[in-house]
Amino acid sequence: MSGITGDIESSNLTSYVHGYSERESARLHDQADSVRDLLHHDTRYPAGNLVLEMGCGVGAQTVTLARNSPDAAIVAVDISGDSLHQAEAFIHRQGLSNVQFRQADVFDLPYEEEYFDDIFVCHVLEHLKQPAEALTKLRTVLKTGGSITVIEGDHGSCTFRPESKEARQVWRCLIDVQARLGGNALIGRGLFPLLSRAQFDVVHVSPRMVYIDHSNPRLMDRFVNRTIIPMVEGVRAQVMDWGLMDPSSWERGINDLYQVANGDDSTFCYTFYKATGIK
Ligand SMILES: C[S@@+](CC[C@H](N)C(=O)[O-])C[C@H]1O[C@@H](n2cnc3c(N)ncnc32)[C@H](O)[C@@H]1O
Repeated sequence: MSGITGDIESSNLTSYVHGYSERESARLHDQADSVRDLLHHDTRYPAGNLVLEMGCGVGAQTVTLARNSPDAAIVAVDISGDSLHQAEAFIHRQGLSNVQFRQADVFDLPYEEEYFDDIFVCHVLEHLKQPAEALTKLRTVLKTGGSITVIEGDHGSCTFRPESKEARQVWRCLIDVQARLGGNALIGRGLFPLLSRAQFDVVHVSPRMVYIDHSNPRLMDRFVNRTIIPMVEGVRAQVMDWGLMDPSSWERGINDLYQVANGDDSTFCYTFYKATGIK
């Protein structure tokens, strides 16, 4: 596995809010599976195109990129060697052969200028202290006329019922912890100015809303039980360390979120933002 060498020293790696646990790997796959069509249905790359997927993680989006564009060549890059090993094994198990993996920091890309035909970035900018600079770096390795696609969530878009004070607080903690670590869980709403200021042209942003009630229990399970709540539970240690909530209010908030996922009269709504631009 020549492109995956070992750990990269970077302050960008240590500040990653979700971490690299086994549970987080499963969560990334559940997240991608639950909203695959919503986010990917309009992304196809032509035969022969060389596509950079930046921040591929464990390959949860890579599998869809590779399947949907079987005649394009995908180069999946991440800063984490561990995630890349998992991604490579996963893509191999899916029988896909149009993906190569390489370990690199988005701020120090080992590619010459104008190297890629297209770039795809999903759930990465929200974790970076300098997302605008990352976009500028990505633009450098993109060919003139090439496309960039960026998908990010926006935790401020989330509504649910039943809603309790504690459930709202635990959700707010997720946003605050990510902000303290230098990220921005509200980045989705800012994609248009981010891409425009990074000198991309023809920027187009489309909100992708996931609305779930109990007419679709499978989606409620995958998206809320297995994606959203584990994401919130993942910041418990920081919340306690920083005294953002007391332990019993935290437990109540998490239990209340499980009520949303499992109650008959519950609803849950969340909006992702998908932006495209041209160099
Ligand atoms: C939330 S995960 C998303 C993974 C994948 N795109 C998905 O949607 O399933 C964010 C990924 O960004 C990677 N990442 C964070 N900072 C990075 C950097 N500076 N350079 C490259 N990758 C980075 C992390 O290692 C992690 O795998």
